[in-house]
Amino acid sequence: MSLFRNPSDQPLWKDEFSVFTADERYVTRRQFTKFLSLASLGMFAGNLWILAKTFFVKTPEFPSTVVAELGEIPVGGVKLFTYPAPQDHCILVRTGDDKYVAYSQKCTHLSCAVYYSAQQGRLECPCHQGYFSIKDGSVLQGPPPRPLPRIVLERDAGKLVAKGVKVGEHG
Ligand code: FES
Repeated sequence: MSLFRNPSDQPLWKDEFSVFTADERYVTRRQFTKFLSLASLGMFAGNLWILAKTFFVKTPEFPSTVVAELGEIPVGGVKLFTYPAPQDHCILVRTGDDKYVAYSQKCTHLSCAVYYSAQQGRLECPCHQGYFSIKDGSVLQGPPPRPLPRIVLERDAGKLVAKGVKVGEHG
């Protein structure tokens, strides 16, 4: 008697594997339905999570921190400070008699520190020649993928106060 053939001349595995050709489609359909159900469940859970996040997760609140006195730095001058956390280095630039701008000092490419080039009137990253607009922090040239985060400044009794950080495109 052969090990590979049964008396009905069917391969042995067909006897042991009890799924008939006609039922294979049924199993496939069942698997497909299962896949659809799981995918729908996943999407439903994702939507629930987004909904919960919208209602329950608050946007971060930033501290109010005095970063400089008005007139403390000359026009074209720079002051470095940290905001909102001690490890977040920022750069304040006085661009005119009464104009101040501040940005995160961390380049959005590979995190080198940017500096202000008064000659060029822009923020420059020395690592890969990434240049940012001093007006709005947008990328002028080079590999940085995003604008520099802008520090929101307000004036209060002769002081410049950092009130928040704006990330992304700034107008
Ligand atoms: S780290 Fe600034 S351009 Fe690469």
